[in-house]
Amino acid sequence: MNTKSADAELGNILDWVERMRKRVCEIAREWEGREGNLIMILHAIQNEFGYVPRGVANELSREMGISMARIYEVITFYHYFRLTPPGNHTVQVCMGTACYLKGAEQLRDELERQLKLMEASGGRKDEFQVENVRCIGCCGMAPAVVVDGETHGRLCPDKVKAVVKQKRGK
Ligand code: FES
Repeated sequence: MNTKSADAELGNILDWVERMRKRVCEIAREWEGREGNLIMILHAIQNEFGYVPRGVANELSREMGISMARIYEVITFYHYFRLTPPGNHTVQVCMGTACYLKGAEQLRDELERQLKLMEASGGRKDEFQVENVRCIGCCGMAPAVVVDGETHGRLCPDKVKAVVKQKRGK
């Protein structure tokens, strides 16, 4: 990288930090003094950034005078919050009772196998974000997964493989 492009990149990073600080400050002010505000603030932050970056959590800690330990306690307690950027595709595997009994674990294993294969063949590790969720309300279609907001039911490992393939092709 030459000096000019390094300077430009540094400028972009500093701009981002400036914008991030301003936004964190606005969000914190919006929820100031309200009960349970830390959770609502973290929701707002995740909506804004797609996850809760460490630098943003740090800024929030400074802005609100809350310890990082407390912020991370909340983030790690609630399954909803992410500490890493979301992948291009989100796959939510329902681990509710009906899905679990009908093979959700095998679907999850197959997904992990597919992601490893993808990575081994040079694909991006973060292309798919796989997460376990509780009942998604369509137990009659168990086992089910939600891919990019679209529900797929009555799945077997082969069908999951096909769904991943189809998404990659898009
Ligand atoms: S348990 Fe999976 S949809 Fe209800």
